[in-house]
Amino acid sequence: MTPRRFVNLIPRKFLLIKIFNYLKFQFSRITSFKTLNYLPVTMDVEPTTGCNFRCTMCQVSSPNFKANNMELSTFKKLISDNKQLIKIKLQGMGEPLVNKNIYEMIEFAKEYGIATEIICNGSMLNKKNISKLLENNLAKLTVSIDGASKKVFENIRVKSNFDDVISNSFTFKEMTRDKFLRPEFSAWSTIQESNYDEIDEIAKLCKKIGFDDLTYQVFLTGWGKNEWEKINNKKNIDYRNLEVKEKFDAVISKYSSSNFKIKVFEENLLTYKKKCSWPWNSSYVSAKGNIVPCCIIGDPNVIDMGNITKKSFKDIWYSEKYKSFRHKISNNELEEFCKNCYFEHNNKQN
Ligand SMILES: C[S@@+](CC[C@H](N)C(=O)[O-])C[C@H]1O[C@@H](n2cnc3c(N)ncnc32)[C@H](O)[C@@H]1O
Ligand code: SF4
Ligand code: SF4
Repeated sequence: MTPRRFVNLIPRKFLLIKIFNYLKFQFSRITSFKTLNYLPVTMDVEPTTGCNFRCTMCQVSSPNFKANNMELSTFKKLISDNKQLIKIKLQGMGEPLVNKNIYEMIEFAKEYGIATEIICNGSMLNKKNISKLLENNLAKLTVSIDGASKKVFENIRVKSNFDDVISNSFTFKEMTRDKFLRPEFSAWSTIQESNYDEIDEIAKLCKKIGFDDLTYQVFLTGWGKNEWEKINNKKNIDYRNLEVKEKFDAVISKYSSSNFKIKVFEENLLTYKKKCSWPWNSSYVSAKGNIVPCCIIGDPNVIDMGNITKKSFKDIWYSEKYKSFRHKISNNELEEFCKNCYFEHNNKQN
């Protein structure tokens, strides 16, 4: 963890509740989660499923996809149920800044000593919106950079404007450059066959903009939906092919420096030994307030643990349904929608 990240995450309120819960979580983790006597330390919260882009690999682009905004009251209920949280990530299906209440959400979380991170498509980062994010002490901003040329970027990110996203990213950097306590500034690049040839140029561009780090995501999910698994499996690169991996390694060593880190996101490349830990670590909260076990699924139509507006989060977290789901993952008795994350079931990834 970098010093900036550490400082941005230090809770300013409800410190004892958070520390006590964090210690219980860590103890459970080192004992291979034999006990479950804590609540999650982080959560992904979906502010909206609405978006101004129609990326080719994203289910938001399905013809009948329905846009929902999370109600402020739902968000407030979630946060007041979860004072132990250290951090939330406001992201999910959709573009977080489309929900006009996003700034109030960040502010409300701050009142509970919870740091907020956002991942966005960069299109709405004008000076006014950036100022509002900074006023509310955003801990981290990630921008999706899926190409280094206008053609490749806009072919994937349909309805986007490459020049605007890049110029907005430069503006964010400029407005935060001299701030002592500024948010971390990260780039996220989802790699598939159509932008694989640009991985070197993407790193070069992100370094030039001044991001603190860049993460390559090398596997497209289908969110447990047959039609999207089929579409996205065809576009996936084969990261575990030695040549492909070496190409990433070469880019990483070429551009990494003390103030620009690059990595490949491998946490969803699981095996029976290296099991999924999402259901013990965190939860995903949909725009309607449904609890889903992870962001790889991120859709209560696939699996739904219960709704935060109807039950307490604690009841959902300790429910028989959640316990049984954890039990299945521990024993490698995977649900169909989990199989795509595992080597043993998905040869394309390996
Ligand atoms: C779903 S988006 C939501 C936030 C915002 N709209 C954005 O694009 O950054 C979060 C990230 O997921 C990536 N993504 C989209 N579809 C994906 C898929 N099928 N599998 C894996 N990542 C995907 C996006 O490129 C983006 O970096
Ligand atoms: S910008 Fe984000 S949410 Fe919108 S379509 Fe693209 S990946 Fe999906
Ligand atoms: S294994 Fe299942 S719970 Fe874990 S990340 Fe994959 S889909 Fe989510």
